[in-house]
Amino acid sequence: MDIIKRIFNYSKRHRGKALFAIFCLILNIGINLTTPRISKIIVDDVIKGGMRDLLLPLLLILFAAGLVKSIIIYLRGLYFEKFSQDTLYELRNDMYSHLQGLPYSYYDKNRVGELMSRMTGDLEGIRNFLAIGISTLLENGIYLIGTTATLLILNFKLGIATMAVTPFIAYLAYRFNKVVRPIFTDIREQHAVLNTAAQENITGVRVVKAFAREEYEIEKFERENYKNKQKNIVASRAWAKYFPLMDFLSSICLVVVIWYGGSLVARGQATVGDIVAFNAYLWMLIMPMRLLGWMINLTAQATTSGQRVFEVLDTGSSIKEKDNPYIPDQYRGEVVFSHVNFSYRKQAVLKDIDFVAPAGSTIAIMGETGSGKTSLINLIGRFYDTCSGQVMVDGINVRNWSLRDLRSQIGIIMQETFLFSDTIEGNIQFGNPDASKEEIIRAAQIADAHDFIMEMPQGYDTIIGERGMGLSGGQKQRIAIARAIVKNPKILIMDDCTSAVDMETEYEIQKALKTVMDNRTTFIIAHRVSSVKNADTILFLEEGRIVERGDHDSLMAQRGRYYEMVRQQYKDLDSPEFKGQVI
Ligand SMILES: Nc1ncnc2c1ncn2[C@@H]1O[C@H](COP(=O)(O)OP(=O)(O)OP(=O)(O)O)[C@@H](O)[C@H]1O
Ligand SMILES: [Mg+2]
Repeated sequence: MDIIKRIFNYSKRHRGKALFAIFCLILNIGINLTTPRISKIIVDDVIKGGMRDLLLPLLLILFAAGLVKSIIIYLRGLYFEKFSQDTLYELRNDMYSHLQGLPYSYYDKNRVGELMSRMTGDLEGIRNFLAIGISTLLENGIYLIGTTATLLILNFKLGIATMAVTPFIAYLAYRFNKVVRPIFTDIREQHAVLNTAAQENITGVRVVKAFAREEYEIEKFERENYKNKQKNIVASRAWAKYFPLMDFLSSICLVVVIWYGGSLVARGQATVGDIVAFNAYLWMLIMPMRLLGWMINLTAQATTSGQRVFEVLDTGSSIKEKDNPYIPDQYRGEVVFSHVNFSYRKQAVLKDIDFVAPAGSTIAIMGETGSGKTSLINLIGRFYDTCSGQVMVDGINVRNWSLRDLRSQIGIIMQETFLFSDTIEGNIQFGNPDASKEEIIRAAQIADAHDFIMEMPQGYDTIIGERGMGLSGGQKQRIAIARAIVKNPKILIMDDCTSAVDMETEYEIQKALKTVMDNRTTFIIAHRVSSVKNADTILFLEEGRIVERGDHDSLMAQRGRYYEMVRQQYKDLDSPEFKGQVI
């Protein structure tokens, strides 16, 4: 019930449309409830009573009623639809912007397919309820009450007899609801699983093919699809049982009217016109009851879907801004980690990280895979919160910063390149919507991307596929570098961003980057010594701890882990050729 209330709350702003639609609906019912009475007058007074001159006006009234009714039905459908579409539009927008506000950690836990299914199927379930559910519910409720009242007024005895069956119908509907609710929850969840399976498979289709695991994937999908089918069949079974029972009970009503009504006519306690009218009204009584199951169905679906949608909307962001966040006048780009500990769940990932990156300096972070490098830089833009200790930018704890302002000054080139299905220009401009064409080209030149872009058939207007399909790994990385550069941030973070380009290109990029690195704090995560050796400070991480720090020369002199790594990369460290190199 709470869920339905919340759905209504959401649609509040559009209640004008809903009220108009309801007005049409009531008018429609009013007309439907009066026309059988006119038929009764025609039978009793005109045909049997001989009042012939009444016939034409009565027929004209029936004709006019039919005309008005069709206009009203049109308006009613239109306005219920508008009402539901407006509500859906807002709900979907709200859900989307809410999803934008949720932190990385939310996406660590939730799968894309699952969220997609909530954004589409579940929202549609709610809309169905608003467009069709409410109108049917109201319509039938009013019919039920209106018809009952009319029947009782028309012929009290016959009315009571006809309605004797209704409590059974109500009980049946109640039972049906109990059975069908959990089935729907099941169906929605299974739908999400199916969605996830399809989405993951399509995204990962290249891996599937490379490992020739199509059969396995097909089987996996078939299994989930089968479950989906079964669950829908369970729901249909419940339906299938429900309808014949409803019909049976309805036909009992009909038998009662004819049998009991006939005897009342014989005894002079009812007219033939009464029976004609009753017959018409009976359908108005039976229809709502028959539809009760269907309405329960729609409501149950909306409740389940509503629950799943509101669950997302109710997820608060664990990364919240303070009430009066810090908005700086100007940025310097100094980053300080002070005894920072961090873990994703239980397992500690970063331990007592403590360093100062003065504004404009270059900090390199090295360490084995899984040592916590990406986790560390994710704390600067406050994509995760520390467990203890502080991360400070320009002397202010990142928790006190306005998130937008903080992140506006950080340019990240992520380890996994993600590009949008857009033009190359659009992808670079994503970093800074205000960037001019010249700035975009300049950024691409620094990232050593300009030349290959110009070689493409449409140059900067070349549309690249989802996630940058159609480009090589190194090309994608270079566009991502351009995207970060065009942002012109005070803090530039490069997470292994030249891993896919050759040494030569990497060298070119770094040379060009030097010109833009002045005046900004740069974090470089890299595995190649050549990428880090010019850094002011190299932090060497091991299992989440800084085990060595210093510049290249001092670390070489320490003869510790860094030195070992350099040796590994330049195997012939002691060879005469090596000694001649400047590393
Ligand atoms: N989103 C996450 N949720 C839970 N654990 C995570 C998450 N991301 C990383 N980890 C774990 O945290 C540890 C550090 O991961 P991190 O990505 O920071 O390593 P890294 O040094 O960047 O490695 P690489 O060089 O391979 O990129 C790993 O043990 C990893 O399993
Ligand atoms: Mg990493």
